[in-house]
Amino acid sequence: MKKRVIAVLTITVCLLFSGCAGIGESKNRNTTVSQNASQNESVTQSSQDNSKADTAKDTPTDISTYPQFDFEKKTVQLNSGYEMPILGLGMFSLSDSEAENSTYLALKAGFRLIDTARIYGNEAAVGRGLQRAIDEGIVKREDAFITTKMWTSDFDDGDNAVNASLERLGVDYIDLMILHHSQPSNDVAAYQAMERAVKDGKLKSIGLSNYYSPKDFDRLLNATSIKPALLQNETHPYHQSTEMKHHIAQYGTVLESWFPLGGRGNTQTLFNDETIRSIVDAHRKSSAQVIIRALAGR
Ligand SMILES: NC(=O)c1ccc[n+]([C@@H]2O[C@H](COP(=O)([O-])OP(=O)(O)OC[C@H]3O[C@@H](n4cnc5c(N)ncnc54)[C@H](OP(=O)(O)O)[C@@H]3O)[C@@H](O)[C@H]2O)c1
Repeated sequence: MKKRVIAVLTITVCLLFSGCAGIGESKNRNTTVSQNASQNESVTQSSQDNSKADTAKDTPTDISTYPQFDFEKKTVQLNSGYEMPILGLGMFSLSDSEAENSTYLALKAGFRLIDTARIYGNEAAVGRGLQRAIDEGIVKREDAFITTKMWTSDFDDGDNAVNASLERLGVDYIDLMILHHSQPSNDVAAYQAMERAVKDGKLKSIGLSNYYSPKDFDRLLNATSIKPALLQNETHPYHQSTEMKHHIAQYGTVLESWFPLGGRGNTQTLFNDETIRSIVDAHRKSSAQVIIRALAGR
């Protein structure tokens, strides 16, 4: 595993940078980035934004339902009642051997959150890495937090999709399963399959990914019973997801961001941003550290 810290997923957004231009992060963008991504392990991080800049008119008056973060334990309390680690490992574009070794080494290094997906094709490898860590007494199953995602082509057969992910991962339950993308034609049915799996004890928590408007999020929420525990969206200084963060807070839903460093191909632009460079110079930190700290809000 690379020695440097590689941030992948951070919960919530920062507002440290003004005048940020949003970039399109639709299904197409994600797919393109996925296809072009290089293969290396990535560490995920999540946290809640409490930046002072995030206090103006965008802030809801009642924030009592905001997800509760514990920065000492580095966990966040999901609305499902389960705790999720703030720091973890993303599996996007990793080969089998990379995914297995990255999972194992991350657990050995102290990380507890592993993020994979059916479409990444490496759930089984993640399961093997987890099992190695369990066999060696590094972690117990309950110490690890495994996230996977149901791909859109499986939405019409959600029950089997859940079972297949369980089987590939080689686990009795999955800590968090999320729908990979909004797909209005059948995502409600897919989500309802995940709700059944929660009742059956197969899934601990369920949520969404790539829902970029309150309207789309509420469409799903209003047609289902269990409030999403988490929304995983592209979020970084150039696309801060402020509206979504505040909108989903009323449901106690945690915002988790992917591409916190801008994603491959965009990272250097972000790292050399004038505002970020000025903070780097003032605090003698790397650009990656500045961005992660800004996103984490602490
Ligand atoms: N739900 C979704 O649709 C979705 C979509 C995409 C991704 N994801 C999740 O998010 C993860 C993707 O994250 P990502 O790693 O591609 O995005 P990222 O963290 O925004 O960007 C990674 C890029 O940043 C560079 N980098 C990372 N840490 C660095 C550091 N400390 N210093 C300097 N450069 C650093 C990497 O360079 P090198 O390549 O040179 O190391 C890489 O180019 C996936 O693993 C997946 O779990 C989810």
